[in-house]
Amino acid sequence: MGRAKKVVLAYSGGVDTSVCIPYLKNEWGVEEVITLAADLGQGDELEPIRQKALTSGASVSLVADAKAEFIQNYAYPAIQANALYENRYPLSTALARPLIAKLLVDAAEEYGADAVAHGCTGKGNDQVRFDVAIAALNPNLKVLAPAREWGMSREETIAYGEKCGIPSPVKKSSPYSVDLNLLGRSVEAGPLEDPNYEPTEEVYALTKAIAQTPDTPEYLEIGFTEGIPTTLNGKHYDPVAFFIELNQRVGNHGIGRIDMVENRLVGIKSREIYETPGLIVLIQAHRDLESLTLTKDVTVYKRGLEETYGQMVYNGLWYNPLKEALDAFIQNTQKRVTGSVRIKLFKGNAIIVGRTSPHSLYSDGLATYGSGDEFDHKAAEGFIYVWGLPTRVWSQMNRG
Ligand code: ARG
Repeated sequence: MGRAKKVVLAYSGGVDTSVCIPYLKNEWGVEEVITLAADLGQGDELEPIRQKALTSGASVSLVADAKAEFIQNYAYPAIQANALYENRYPLSTALARPLIAKLLVDAAEEYGADAVAHGCTGKGNDQVRFDVAIAALNPNLKVLAPAREWGMSREETIAYGEKCGIPSPVKKSSPYSVDLNLLGRSVEAGPLEDPNYEPTEEVYALTKAIAQTPDTPEYLEIGFTEGIPTTLNGKHYDPVAFFIELNQRVGNHGIGRIDMVENRLVGIKSREIYETPGLIVLIQAHRDLESLTLTKDVTVYKRGLEETYGQMVYNGLWYNPLKEALDAFIQNTQKRVTGSVRIKLFKGNAIIVGRTSPHSLYSDGLATYGSGDEFDHKAAEGFIYVWGLPTRVWSQMNRG
């Protein structure tokens, strides 16, 4: 008896997920493997990938264009949450995992599979994200992770594949492990494993080196509606086209590179290079628009939740009740986060230079130092007396 009868496997067309197909059948007694390749804007040609799954032994090879869903249901809430992990990483890889898990579960239900499978190893975050998301969406499905157990080196994996008729990779394999989607690019491994090694330019693909960027600044005006980015320089784009355009423009100025050592959920520190040009600028602009449209207390309270939100997304808890409750709070705060933010792109910097909103809470009359001042200066005196009272009493008792 095998571990499962019919399995839906997350498929990328790479060596590991290709080898998973014969491995599941030969070693784990799976009768039928259905593959699912999700298009999240990684730019791969999907027809050869679809074919490769079939020649590798899949009975059905599915391809899902999930780009719009990725932006609308995963990127937008994260932008509204200003979600960053460890204050820096905008979660471009992490956000893709719960969506892929959902596509796997949907396919498993449609095809009557009793398990889903993925090619993650036992050292990373992605295995946690897949396993937990799948369990949340359908706790009756088994999750198989052959690469977590097979213990084969890269060479052994390729050899196993060749034995099963899977062609070895044609292009010389790069030392880096790369994950790419519409939100950004993550690069790790190879020489980057030394946290003190400076990445060479070949590591980057979405952002230019500063030396290659334009010598004149470019201005962008990003329009938000209820916390969702909708226009670029006054022009409306569909969600996917918006990201493609923004990544291109921002990356052209060398903006969006992040080089960090992060704490994985499994406890390992890992050095990762990210390129998230569009997403990082959107979070920056969104946060700025919030500073104009949210009250001080909502802003401060939301800040605390954003930290938790970023950790939950990173740690695989997208479909968790606390995360969903945080979404409800965040949604409620976004009703007036409408307006536009002007940004200057220049030599690796995205500098916010202006913001407007029909719901602006900024009051000229209160803020001005000029003749139109409406603020009651006398009132400040009484306020400060009361505000400082506990401090004054403490000081009288304890000092001098
Ligand atoms: N460390 C990042 C995360 O956990 C990215 C992981 C995938 N990176 C990669 N280079 N394959 O979200």
